[in-house]
Amino acid sequence: MGLTRDFFILLSQNKVLNSGAKRWGLKLGAQSVVAGTSVEQMVESVKQLNAKGIAATIDNLGEFVFEKQEAIEAKTQILAVIEAIHGHGLDAHISLKPTQLGLDIDYDFCLDNLKEIVAKANDYAIFINFDMEDYGHLQPSFDIIDELSNDYTNIGTVIQAYFYEADENLQKYKDYRMRIVKGAYKEPENLAYQDKKDIDQNYIRLIEYHLLNGKFSSIATHDHHVINHVKKFAKDNNISKDKFEFQMLYGFRNELQLELADEGYKFCTYVPFGVDWYGYFMRRLAERPQNLNLVAKQMFNK
Ligand code: FDA
Repeated sequence: MGLTRDFFILLSQNKVLNSGAKRWGLKLGAQSVVAGTSVEQMVESVKQLNAKGIAATIDNLGEFVFEKQEAIEAKTQILAVIEAIHGHGLDAHISLKPTQLGLDIDYDFCLDNLKEIVAKANDYAIFINFDMEDYGHLQPSFDIIDELSNDYTNIGTVIQAYFYEADENLQKYKDYRMRIVKGAYKEPENLAYQDKKDIDQNYIRLIEYHLLNGKFSSIATHDHHVINHVKKFAKDNNISKDKFEFQMLYGFRNELQLELADEGYKFCTYVPFGVDWYGYFMRRLAERPQNLNLVAKQMFNK
């Protein structure tokens, strides 16, 4: 399991495959978990979710960008998504990754790009969620959030439960709308829990803390054990259903997504789209090799 995970994480970081895949269109079964390559295709997917009472957080795929031009293109695309959310009246907000907007190129350049995006979204009362990436990008991402918080309130971020310092960050950012996840990247032992049991335990602890003390919580997991625990915890502690939502990735556990929405829980699907689908798809395979079924089905159903 460990080896398979490492293998797909390595594949997700392969520059040649990442850039080649931009020309392939959605392949290998990625279309089950990526909502198209264009804004128009994404809008159609979000409309279908909204019709089922499910909101969306939209991710224009792309990360680990090292060229200014690429970061500017990403910014332009995200501004177009904001216009589309507003223009089509979608029940949706944005998720984005600071590295896509140039964090690895220059901090101030990235900050300026993000300022433009957050300001535009603010005009339309659209929320921007900063995804959190690997440890090397954690502190600069929080620094950008701190700077933007001086002028804007339509921003929130993610706490990754595998980090030992997750607790400290959750307390510091308790007044933000917060997504809480287990953590997707490969991190060393001196920074992060490695054992699934430890991660799960910390995850539950952090969720409970934010439900009791924090602003709005987005509980982003496909783990029904966690979901069932949260439902019971919320009920036992009189936490109303409008103080939190469940989130899952597009194309994962679709029946459970619907079931939760039908039970009256707020539900928000993370909707990735765009030509930069390859790294995202490989990380999903790393987390759950059973997702290889998607690849196999696709290969035999040409
Ligand atoms: P996990 O993979 O631990 O599985 C636990 C159990 O749940 C499994 O044993 C199985 O029983 C069940 N299960 C899981 N997936 C299933 C499936 N597809 N079908 C059936 N059963 C299934 N990470 C990060 O580092 N930064 C970020 O910004 C984000 N953002 C983010 C947003 C959203 C909306 C989600 C859902 C996730 C993220 N993540 C993330 C990823 C997150 O950190 C984590 O890696 C994955 O969600 C996998 O962990 P889970 O909690 O989903 O279950």
